[in-house]
Amino acid sequence: VRRLALLVLLAVLAAGCGSTVPGGGRKVTTPTPVTVVGTIPSQTGPAGNAARGKVVYNANGCGACHTFTPAGSTGKVGPDLDNLAASAKKANQGTLAQYVLSSIVNPNGYIVPGYPANVMPQTFGQKLSKQQLADLVAFLTQGS
Ligand code: HEC
Repeated sequence: VRRLALLVLLAVLAAGCGSTVPGGGRKVTTPTPVTVVGTIPSQTGPAGNAARGKVVYNANGCGACHTFTPAGSTGKVGPDLDNLAASAKKANQGTLAQYVLSSIVNPNGYIVPGYPANVMPQTFGQKLSKQQLADLVAFLTQGS
C-alpha cells in the first residue's frame, strides 16, 4: 500500500510542477504547499529521490558529523547513520521515514541516547525545501 501511495504522490508531483531542475534542488521554482491535504496513510510529504538526497546530504555537511556508507562519509560527532533502522526502532517514534524526517527538522525532539543535544543544527527544517527533505529521507532509508 505504501509503495503505491508513493507512486501516486510522485505522479501528482510530476503533473503538478512541470519544472524539474537538473542537478537538483538549487533552484526552487514552485511554491511548496503549506498544508498537505490527503488521505494517504503515513505520508511524509513529497516522494523522495535517493540520488538527489545524496547531493543534499553532501551539500549540507551531514557527513562532517555522520558516518554513512552510501555517502562515503565517516564523521563521528553524531550517530552512525548506517544504524538508522535500529535507532528508529529504539526511539519508537513512528515509521522509519517519519523518524528520520523529524530527526532532521527537529533534532532536539528526540535525542539519541549517548549523544548531546544542540549539536546537530536545528535549522535544516527551514533551510531545506520539503522536496529536499524527502530526498534526504529517501537517501537515508534506502535499503531499509
Ligand atoms: C554538527 C554536527 C551535525 C551535523 C552537521 C548534522 N548532524 Fe545529524 N546528528 C548530530 C548529533 C550529535 C545527533 C545525535 C543527537 C540528536 O539526536 O539530535 C544527530 C542525529 C541525527 C539523526 C538521528 C540518528 C539516529 O541514529 O537516530 C539523523 C537521522 C541525522 N542526525 C541526520 C542528519 C542529516 C541528514 C544531516 C545533514 C542535513 C545532519 N544530520 C547534520 C550531529 C550533526
